[in-house]
Amino acid sequence: MRNMKIDFGLVAKLFGTPTYVYDAFTIRERIGVVRKVFKGFDFTILFALKANNNPVLLRLMADMDVGADVVSPGELVASHRAGMRPVLWNGNGKTEEQKCFFLEQGFDLLSIDSIEELEMWQDTAIPRLLRVNPNVDARTHPHISTGLKHHKFGVDIEELEKVAEKIDGLHVHIGSQVTSVEPYEAAYSRLVRACREFGLHTLDLGGGWGIDYNGEYLDTDKMREMTSRVFSRFDGKLLIEPGRFITGPAGFLLAKVLRVKKGEKTFIVTDAGMNDLIRPALYNAHHRIRILEPAGPAVSCDVVGPLCETGDKLAADRILELPTAGSLLVVEDAGAYGFSMASNYNSMPLPAEVIWDDSGPVLIRKRQTIEDMYSNVIGP
Ligand SMILES: Cc1ncc(COP(=O)(O)O)c(C=O)c1O
Repeated sequence: MRNMKIDFGLVAKLFGTPTYVYDAFTIRERIGVVRKVFKGFDFTILFALKANNNPVLLRLMADMDVGADVVSPGELVASHRAGMRPVLWNGNGKTEEQKCFFLEQGFDLLSIDSIEELEMWQDTAIPRLLRVNPNVDARTHPHISTGLKHHKFGVDIEELEKVAEKIDGLHVHIGSQVTSVEPYEAAYSRLVRACREFGLHTLDLGGGWGIDYNGEYLDTDKMREMTSRVFSRFDGKLLIEPGRFITGPAGFLLAKVLRVKKGEKTFIVTDAGMNDLIRPALYNAHHRIRILEPAGPAVSCDVVGPLCETGDKLAADRILELPTAGSLLVVEDAGAYGFSMASNYNSMPLPAEVIWDDSGPVLIRKRQTIEDMYSNVIGP
């Protein structure tokens, strides 16, 4: 569990760039923080695989008794490869084909998104949680906010009475990158009340804990204080589904500086782009940038990728000490919704992934080749 400093130069030399690098120590440490928040309660952590699906990282979590929150057959396979238990299947668009696959492969818990979906599960004995929409504003980016009445997720809490006897528990997830405790307190209090009213003893609290991309993040001490108060009135089993909180700060996108382009505006052009990390282009998300070998004065600049898109940015209007061509740069807090949202846009192969543990750097996903990229094409 030692926190060893990552030698990014060594990673680049061994495996090239762009490469995602994960610090195993940080992942273990973050799991410890979640545990501390719920200490004293009967609870299980289910890592949300949508944040990161690398089975090597998942195995590290499984070794710490972390289960899985999955939303697709692909994620189910990754969770099984890693040996994660229990596995919860979540999602608002489950299909009959997926249902057959899940039943064949095995899973432990279901989150049901609508009263209509309940029908699909009449013939199975898998414990079912109903996702409730608590009508709480998570005060996060609109694209990652999920707990208001007009969002597509969950069943109106007022509808619960109609179906309470057909379910085994409740589920709530108000959004992602949530940085204040109040929306959680509002949602959790409503759910605890509903569980008491309908005699339900399993409550899945979702994920969404906000991390420190830019100075604002969820205060876990305050969460601890709030959970001990709110759940003192709850008699049963808690589940919690963090994704970003566990792997986000543990991951770095390592890139090479291709050139520094000077003009009216200064651009640091790197070999990593929106195909590798789409969050800045998609959500205007902020990631800190670390220039590993600064060689020039600090100036305002954009850090951009090599793709044919103006939006292909890793950072905009940052004050950074200028690097030289060929040196390295690191995008921080890239361990969640980084690789898992990467694409082949501009026919760019997916980046490599490396874990840094006690024994140093180990390649955990090969860089995709151009051949891999076209391997499923039928035709020329
Ligand atoms: C139902 C559900 N649970 C958990 C998560 C994980 O969220 P986060 O990575 O912000 O913790 C998400 C993310 O969208 C989700 O939709």
